[in-house]
Amino acid sequence: MSVMQSGAVPLESYKDMIDGEIERLVLERLSSPRDQPAMGLAREVLLAGGKRYRPMLGLIAYEAAGGEDVGNVMDFALSAELIHTATLVHDDVYDRSKMRRGKPTIHASHGIPHAIIAGDYLFALGFELGARHEPRIIDLVSASCARVASGEILQLEHIRDLSTQPENYYEIIDGKTAGPFATACSCAAIVADHEEFVEPMWNYGMEMGRAFQLVDDLLDLIGDESTGKPRGTDVLEGKMTLPIIHALTVTHGADRDQLADVLTNYNDSRLRELTDLLERAGSFDYSQLLISNHIERALESLSSLPDSGAKGLLIDFAEMSRSRTN
Ligand code: IPE
Ligand code: IPE
Ligand code: MG
Ligand code: MG
Repeated sequence: MSVMQSGAVPLESYKDMIDGEIERLVLERLSSPRDQPAMGLAREVLLAGGKRYRPMLGLIAYEAAGGEDVGNVMDFALSAELIHTATLVHDDVYDRSKMRRGKPTIHASHGIPHAIIAGDYLFALGFELGARHEPRIIDLVSASCARVASGEILQLEHIRDLSTQPENYYEIIDGKTAGPFATACSCAAIVADHEEFVEPMWNYGMEMGRAFQLVDDLLDLIGDESTGKPRGTDVLEGKMTLPIIHALTVTHGADRDQLADVLTNYNDSRLRELTDLLERAGSFDYSQLLISNHIERALESLSSLPDSGAKGLLIDFAEMSRSRTN
């Protein structure tokens, strides 16, 4: 993401803050014999260069909602990143993904048992930090994790299901991605002690999360190596992402037969064939249109917030998501 923003404090400085805190936490736990073996594994992914969007949104939403000392929301923000990273480590096991954040996944380097343990450890650490906040925060974080689990199960149920509908897709991404974004933003308003901004922040997070996953799914088809993940992983795994669902609905005749064949007998050499079919069906344009709609709605949900540098950053973050490439 570009570092140019309108706010006085650039977005990048929030990322630096999170990076610094994560490094500090990693070093602290590596020095404890209790945590050292598990953190030794977890650090490989924690320090591999994640974008830190969820904790950054936590810090910025806190300030946009009137919070004055980001130190008060830091444990929550770190908790969001740790739990997110835990879901990635486990997600890579069942998605059989070999690369994450530009590095081999933990299961690829150390085997599935170690990846399960590293993920469990990251969850435990995330809840340890989150539990330093009021019980309402823990309830919301737990609910978010439950929705991630349900979203991932629903996704598994639709693997290679060519009759998957857009509403199935939205139920999946609301659970696995938009919910955690919404939780990060709305809990930040709770920590800021501004109840009136909890719902607007929830709505902003949901819409940003939807846009984010739609872009992620586009990047799986047409992104470059800067994503840190190989292209075509979703197709190889039989995931029914929105461009594919759209193309299956609007395509007829020989193109429809070819599309079904590519999806059911996919290998890496067929990615271009697939993207050509999606292009002809207008499926990339369709996804782009929906991404724009979600970003517009995210921006609308900020209307009740007072103007501030932090609100400006939430606006910038939304605008930049349109052209995100990694
Ligand atoms: C990856 O999230 C999982 C999705 C919801 C698409 P990110 O793209 O935020 O991953 P990192 O944290 O930057 O590696
Ligand atoms: C992962 O979704 C969502 C979670 C946070 C579990 P994806 O499977 O689309 O994410 P990537 O593509 O592996 O990063
Ligand atoms: Mg995955
Ligand atoms: Mg993906």
